[in-house]
Amino acid sequence: MKLTVIGTGYVGLVAGACLAETGNDVICVDKDEAKIRMLRRGKMPIFEPGLEELVRRNSAEKRLTFTSQLPRAIRASSVIFIAVGTPQGEDGAADLQHVLGVAREIAQSMNGYKVIVGKSTVPVGTAEKVREIIRRETTHPFSVVSNPEFLKQGAAVDDFLKPDRVVIGTEDERGGEIMRQVYAPFTRTGAPILVMDCASAELCKYAANALLATRISFMNEVANVCEVFGADVDQVRRAIGSDRRIGPSFLFPGVGYGGSCFPKDVKAIVKFTADKGYDFQILKAVERVNHRQKSVLATRMERHFGSLKGRTIAVWGLSFKPRTDDMREAPAIVLIERLLAAGAKVQAFDPAAMPVAKRLFGSSVTLTARSYAALAGADALAVVTEWNEFREPDFAKMRKLMKTPVVFDGRNIYSREVMRANGFTYYSIGR
Ligand SMILES: NC(=O)c1ccc[n+]([C@@H]2O[C@H](COP(=O)([O-])OP(=O)(O)OC[C@H]3O[C@@H](n4cnc5c(N)ncnc54)[C@H](O)[C@@H]3O)[C@@H](O)[C@H]2O)c1
Repeated sequence: MKLTVIGTGYVGLVAGACLAETGNDVICVDKDEAKIRMLRRGKMPIFEPGLEELVRRNSAEKRLTFTSQLPRAIRASSVIFIAVGTPQGEDGAADLQHVLGVAREIAQSMNGYKVIVGKSTVPVGTAEKVREIIRRETTHPFSVVSNPEFLKQGAAVDDFLKPDRVVIGTEDERGGEIMRQVYAPFTRTGAPILVMDCASAELCKYAANALLATRISFMNEVANVCEVFGADVDQVRRAIGSDRRIGPSFLFPGVGYGGSCFPKDVKAIVKFTADKGYDFQILKAVERVNHRQKSVLATRMERHFGSLKGRTIAVWGLSFKPRTDDMREAPAIVLIERLLAAGAKVQAFDPAAMPVAKRLFGSSVTLTARSYAALAGADALAVVTEWNEFREPDFAKMRKLMKTPVVFDGRNIYSREVMRANGFTYYSIGR
C-alpha cells in the first residue's frame, strides 16, 4: 500500500518505519525541514531503541522517504496517518490546531478516495470535526478513521510491531477494511483488532493513560502512607501485585509521572469531560498527587541538609523514564529548578538526554560526560530515572568521589541493606 504519515515525532517516525518494514511504501512528512534533512541523511532526530536500524534499512530499500511537501505525498497515497502533536493548551485542553490544520491541507490536495487516520491522541469528537473540515473542502470520497496509538517510548518499535491490541474507530466499512489490511501483519500472533465507533476509539486512549496515571499516583500515596506507619512499600507492592485482579505492572512508587502523554492527557480528559458538564473527580486527585510527588526529593533534601545553599547535588537520570531522551514534564526538571532556586549547584548525567538537557538548562547545570563525573565533590546524589546503568554502580568508587555519602533514590533501585553496608545515608520512597 502507499501510505503517508504526517508528523515524524516519537509516534509518526516509529509508525512510518514499522509500516515500511512490512512492505508498504511510506512517505513521512514533517513541517520541520531541519528534521527532514536529518532523516534524509540517515540521522535520527530522537533516541528510540531499534529505530535507527529500521529507518536506515527501509530508506535504503526506498520504501521509506521523507519530505516537507505535504500535497505531493497526499496525492501519492491512499492512506494518510495524522501523527502530529496535540500539546496541552492554556486551559488544559488538547491543542488541536496541528491536527485540524493538517486535515484542511489533506482535503485541499485530494485527488481520489483516501483513508484519513487519526493517530494523534485527541478528545472525543475530533474525528467528527476532521470529517466536517474535509467535507467542506473537497468532493472526493474519503473515510476518517480513529486509530489511537498505545506505544511506549523506550520500547516504541517493539510495541508497534507487536501491539497488545489495535483499536480502529470507524463510521464506514470501507475505511475499516483497509485498516484491517494495514494492521494484519502486526497482529498475526493473535493480538485483537478492535473495531468500534470513533468516539469509543478516541476515549480508549485517554482511559488507558488515565488508568495508568491513576495506578502511579495511587502507589505514590501508598508509599507515603508506608512512611507514616513504618511499613515497606516493596512488600506491599509485591503482595498486591500478586493478585491476578491487580497484576504487578505500574505499581512502582517514585517521583511522579512525567513525559509527553500522561500529564497532558490527564488534564485533557478532565477538561473535555468538564466541557460537557462532567466532574472527573478521581483524575483531579491523580494530578494533585503527582504534582506533590514531584517535590518529594527536594523536600527531603532540604530536611536533611537544613539549607541547600552552596551544596553540590549530583543528579543521575534526566529523561522522564529510561530508554528515551524525552524530558517533557520530566520530574528531574522540577527537582533541578528547585535545587537551583535554593542556591545549590547541580551536576547531572543522563545516558541519552544530555543534548535535550543542554538546551533546557544551558550553563546553569553542569552536565558531565559520564555518570561518575557528576559525583565529584557532591554533597548528595539524587537518582531520578531508573536507567539500567545506574542499578549496579561501584559503591566504593561513588563514596570516594562524593564529599558526603548521601543518596536520595527516587526510584527505589537500591537495597537499603546494601546501601547501609556501603556506608551511605540512604533515602528512598516508601521504605
Ligand atoms: N510520545 C508517545 O509516547 C505517544 C504515544 C502515543 C500517542 N502519542 C500521541 O501522538 C501524537 C504525537 O506525539 P509525539 O510524541 O510523536 O509528538 P512529537 O512532538 O514528538 O512529534 C510531532 C511532530 O509533528 C510535526 N508537526 C506538527 N505540525 C505539523 C504539520 N502541520 N505538518 C507536518 N508536521 C507537523 C512536528 O514538527 C513534530 O515533528 C500526540 O497526540 C501524542 O499525544 C504519543
